[in-house]
Amino acid sequence: MKWILYISATLFIASIFSACNHNFDHIPVHENTRWEFSPQMYHSEAYEPVTQVVDRENYPESYNTSPGNNGMNVRMPVPNTIKRGFTPYNVDKDSLNWAAANLKSPFTVTEELLAEGEVLYKRYCSHCHGDQGKADGKVAEKFKGIADLTQDRLKAASEGHFFHVISKGKGRMLSHASQISQEERWKIAHYVKEKLQKTE
Ligand code: HEC
Repeated sequence: MKWILYISATLFIASIFSACNHNFDHIPVHENTRWEFSPQMYHSEAYEPVTQVVDRENYPESYNTSPGNNGMNVRMPVPNTIKRGFTPYNVDKDSLNWAAANLKSPFTVTEELLAEGEVLYKRYCSHCHGDQGKADGKVAEKFKGIADLTQDRLKAASEGHFFHVISKGKGRMLSHASQISQEERWKIAHYVKEKLQKTE
């Protein structure tokens, strides 16, 4: 009866190796671990917009492009499309003086608005400018040249000045436009002017 054992053992080992019998040359090098038991689980058959692979010849396993949709998994938006509810801010970065003089906040300042501004300031600005605006946030220990927001020049600056700097950046500070909506920028500007700059 031993032969049954031998045959089943051989079949078992063969089945393990046959599972790996897969043409690995078609898999992109960075994904190629040489151990891929069930390719369909790794390479989706469904159309996935984030992993569009159009090279069917070299990557048949990964190919997932919709032929019925002009070879696109997801339609590209028409050029210059903006997302719903988004208002672009097209003032040039160099036009800080213009923005400071002309931009007007759409908000009336209330304690509630300032409280919202405080949350936003602490979320987006404190780590550099410090909770009190004194340029002593954690990042300031390593990243030099952060402006003290309570200095006289910035006390004299308008909310529009702050709005523009948050939107476009200035010098070593980069734009925060992708993270902070226009409404939020005004709230932060009001908070800095009303709370941080008026304590002394
Ligand atoms: C990554 C660190 C960092 C963050 C985050 C940051 N800033 Fe700045 N900020 C700087 C640096 C550095 C400067 C100095 C820029 C320069 O003059 O080179 C600066 C300068 C400024 C100035 C002075 C502009 C002028 O007229 O000279 C204002 C106002 C300002 N930041 C506001 C903010 C506000 C409001 C936020 C939060 C939305 C913020 N910053 C977030 C680093 C940062």
